[in-house]
Amino acid sequence: MFHVKKDWELAAQHEGLIIGLYDKPEKFSGSLAMLDEKFDGQLTELVKSGDLSAKFKSISKVHSFGKVGAKRIWFVGLGKEKELSFDKLKEALGKLFKEVKTSKLEETAIYLDSFISEELDGLDAAHAIGESFALSTYQFDGYRQKSNVPEKRIEQVTVYSEAMDVEDVQISLSVGYVFGKGTNSARTLVNIPGNMLTATAMAKYASELAAKYDFEVEILDKAEIEKLGMGAFLAVNQGSVEPPKMIVLKYQGKDEWKDVIGLVGKGITFDTGGYSIKTKAGIVGMKTDMGGAAAVLGAMEIIGETRPEQNVVAVIPSTDNMISGGAFKPDDVITSMSGKTIEVLNTDAEGRLVLADAVTYAKHHGADYLVDVATLTGGVITALGLHTTGAMTNHEALYEQVHGAAVEAGEQMWLLPLFETEKERVRNSKVADLNNSPGSEGHALVAGAFIGEFAEGTPWVHLDIAGTATSGKAYDLGPAGATGVMTRTLALFVERFEPIGKK
Ligand code: BES
Ligand code: MN
Ligand code: ZN
Repeated sequence: MFHVKKDWELAAQHEGLIIGLYDKPEKFSGSLAMLDEKFDGQLTELVKSGDLSAKFKSISKVHSFGKVGAKRIWFVGLGKEKELSFDKLKEALGKLFKEVKTSKLEETAIYLDSFISEELDGLDAAHAIGESFALSTYQFDGYRQKSNVPEKRIEQVTVYSEAMDVEDVQISLSVGYVFGKGTNSARTLVNIPGNMLTATAMAKYASELAAKYDFEVEILDKAEIEKLGMGAFLAVNQGSVEPPKMIVLKYQGKDEWKDVIGLVGKGITFDTGGYSIKTKAGIVGMKTDMGGAAAVLGAMEIIGETRPEQNVVAVIPSTDNMISGGAFKPDDVITSMSGKTIEVLNTDAEGRLVLADAVTYAKHHGADYLVDVATLTGGVITALGLHTTGAMTNHEALYEQVHGAAVEAGEQMWLLPLFETEKERVRNSKVADLNNSPGSEGHALVAGAFIGEFAEGTPWVHLDIAGTATSGKAYDLGPAGATGVMTRTLALFVERFEPIGKK
């Protein structure tokens, strides 16, 4: 995909050439001055007249009329050097690549050095190019008889850099691209409808991923899930004709199986709400209720590519939440794998039930640290909106590592409190140890508190992505639909992870 070259030969033939423009380029320097010369100083004139703007995210296309090898040049405004962050560069590049995509090219060149500044080095710029290219050009093909996917797509990007080492640039581009691709895989899983992405299909996908990256894989079928006593998980599956799957992937990057990170993702392939049924408006879109599972699988893909020196066990409880004569119902009391009994007050609070057994099972597989990711509550949307993932934790030092990864990945995250008052609310039942839905006040908090009951003393971070897993609108780094949120955060968290003393 990316091909790095040291010598920038202006006569080299390309369909397009991409150049970053910082404010205020009164005079071009270095290779850009040579380019300007080829245009008899006309580029400088265009900047002076304002036709070529360096304003952040402004995009200008200039035809070269044969003056250089590239047929057309795209200038992307980067604003002031001091104000351009890594995240902002990715946005600007995303907007640019979307624009370039509409021109139906198969190939383009990009001049890396034009993106380098005192604030932003060439490796970060290369990572940004790789990642934003993958993210912004992503498209879910869908199922139309007549495909609307363009026949031509950019297959090769030639990256010129005189300032940087060719191999270093190649690595950063590839890592960025891998992060983008892993996120896109998560997006695709979320975009696939529930009739196609069943628990069985998700298990098959995970097995294929395991084969590709040499992960250990374990897929528990219904009989095995019963044998292990995962009564909370089974209750959610009870009304379905689709069998449940407990999906486990193990990646061992250390000599010994210690300091194990458990990544647990909610894998509800469709959530009707069960007998506590959703409204006809609220049910639409519930194919996305496996966004947590998708983020975990996307992160495992990145981990499979980058192979960090860490140990990871991924656990995904997958089923749909359906209604039938045999479905579970409010007032039922179920027994989780941990032994804790649960009074079901709301069958639509099913995510915490499947996660309860998955968290317990992750610990059985040796997880010393737990991060669960789930499209868990509408409450988190009320609390934090559609752009911020809500977190909860029983261990601040672990949260700091997860949050640090989110900041680096450019994904917004905010910590919600885990107070005794909410723990008491989930422990309040006349007939069981816990109840799954003590009322709608602060329900993001009680949902998290419920999962925390199963993490027990293990350091744990909970991420509620109900608001962030999908986007109603297209944005610079992706189309409307699934966002693949937390894929990159999880992968970076694993990569950077440092074992910490347990509480
Ligand atoms: N899957 C939903 C949460 C959700 C809502 C995801 C909106 C994506 C968008 C979850 O299983 C659910 O139904 N939660 C209930 C909990 C309530 C019954 C306590 C909710 O948030 O209303
Ligand atoms: Mn639900
Ligand atoms: Zn759900």
